[in-house]
Amino acid sequence: MCGIIGYTGTLDAKKVIIDGLKELEYRGYDSAGIALMRKDQPEDPIYIMKEAGPVSVLEESTKGDEVASTCGIGHTRWATHGGVTDQNAHPHTTGRVTLIHNGIIENYRELINSYNLEDSLISETDSEVALRIIDYYYNKYQDPYRAIKKSVGIIRGSYSFCILFSNIPGKIFCIRNVSPLVAGVSEKGSLIASDLTALLPYTRDYFVLPEHTIAVLDPDGITLQDLEGNEVQPEMLHADWDVESVKKGGYPHFMLKEINEQPEAMHNTLKPRLQDGLPDFSEEGIPDSLFQDCREVCIIACGTANYAGMVGKSIMELILRIPVSVHIASEFRYEDPLIDDKTLCIVISQSGETIDTLEGMKIAMKKGAKTISIVNVKGSTIARESDYVLYTHAGPEISVASTKAYTVQLAALYLLACRMAYVRGVYDKEQASAFMNEVLMVVPVITEVLKNIVGMKHVSEKMMKAKDAFYIGRSLDYAFSLEGALKLKEISYVHAEAYPAGELKHGTIALIENGTPVVAIATQEKIYEKTISNVREVKARGAFVTLITKKGKEVGPEVCDIHLEIPDIADQFTVFPVAVMLQLIAYYTADGKGLDVDKPRNLAKSVTVE
Ligand code: F6R
Repeated sequence: MCGIIGYTGTLDAKKVIIDGLKELEYRGYDSAGIALMRKDQPEDPIYIMKEAGPVSVLEESTKGDEVASTCGIGHTRWATHGGVTDQNAHPHTTGRVTLIHNGIIENYRELINSYNLEDSLISETDSEVALRIIDYYYNKYQDPYRAIKKSVGIIRGSYSFCILFSNIPGKIFCIRNVSPLVAGVSEKGSLIASDLTALLPYTRDYFVLPEHTIAVLDPDGITLQDLEGNEVQPEMLHADWDVESVKKGGYPHFMLKEINEQPEAMHNTLKPRLQDGLPDFSEEGIPDSLFQDCREVCIIACGTANYAGMVGKSIMELILRIPVSVHIASEFRYEDPLIDDKTLCIVISQSGETIDTLEGMKIAMKKGAKTISIVNVKGSTIARESDYVLYTHAGPEISVASTKAYTVQLAALYLLACRMAYVRGVYDKEQASAFMNEVLMVVPVITEVLKNIVGMKHVSEKMMKAKDAFYIGRSLDYAFSLEGALKLKEISYVHAEAYPAGELKHGTIALIENGTPVVAIATQEKIYEKTISNVREVKARGAFVTLITKKGKEVGPEVCDIHLEIPDIADQFTVFPVAVMLQLIAYYTADGKGLDVDKPRNLAKSVTVE
């Protein structure tokens, strides 16, 4: 998730933009850059400085440069396509066009081929491909509006673009699809940015740029027009938040913000890997032979990533009918594991730096296994050292408790499972694309769950007062329970155990007392009745039961105290809405207890010690 800012007005543009970039840095960064329109050099109007590293490095490098400019754009990059290098940093420029981009261009490979760009690209980024397309049409039409309209008709993906045309002084052209842009006008000029933090020093009146609308900023104001050329009136908003809460997008904590970012993160992780509805890893260079030749799959990870692996195991075994084992990395390292060159090893890590996971991966490699890592942080050690990497595109996860990284790890595992099924002949084209279609359909399902949080808040009121809680379920529902219990423990400090529902009676049920909270998950049709029988067992012993089922199940007060419903989707995909519910229960419990949700005690975001 990159940070974007554009300014045109009467102030020194370099200062406005660098100050804005500093405000946007919390979005994650690995490089930063600015482009300024010089007033005094019409023959060479665009000044660009960009480099890998934080904004402070860019600030230092530009210190001595006196640029007479009141119009420019700036960018902090969080790498998705291409490594962390000066060349891959934004802005990108060619001909008369200079551009910054936040988002992911899905069809960039196709565009490189159709427009013969292979030999002319300077960077490894998808953003530069978008730039080249806009430049191509600007040369053809000599009209910025036509060039942008034509280009966005061809480009697929999520994007917010800010564009300078070197022969149009003082103006910034912007457009977006999915990725955010907000804009406002102050007495000192017009501003646009990926979020409000960068605007607040200048104005508190702003609007969200409507999607597929071209905004043109000039020193006196901002005009908007849709793709048909009709003028658009923005809906003005007023911000009365402080800067800290703006960084959190108006949410009180990063965790809640990140929970709410899951639909976008899922979209960004899935869409670029789908070609004709099928998972396609040619961009990642992952050969199908890897999936065809393996006899078994071994998943290595820690914590939440490990629990994503548990769901992946069930899905893969169900579809592929080959053995899939999941290993806690810190155990795997000392187990002398039974793997060889016929093992495909999937290594999952948000940070890509977890030392146990990294060392586990090295052991697997030594034993001849081929490794694919599923990693969120671009260029991290695990990503670099694995044979292949499938990046999740969740954007930076700042809250210590993992939320959006979990759902995109799952999305990556579903992509892998489906590709494997296809190349191994388990699924034909139709079945594979039907499967992926169902995965895509969870994006609106998650959005729906996020809209109705009353039930989860209600559960949290009970949890806040508890010392112990239990999460139970069978088969896939049990795998979901593990993550639900971990979320509750780590941020609310309520002791929570996840148990296979049928196993409780072999000992643990002794711990159920009057009022003990139990979250029971029963979304798997095949064993629904069995799970409900186990729920009755705990209810009969006084448990306060929250039951999560698909919509339409009749359950009375003898079964549960709170009934939470997810939309009626196929069993294999229920993890997504259930995960969001469990995250929200944990979040509201911790928040209700007044705890430091984003920084729970004793925990670190990246665990680089054994
Ligand atoms: C829990 C959590 C941890 C991490 C674990 C692995 O919310 O965040 O359990 O999942 O430390 O971290 P990564 O995925 O960075 O390897």
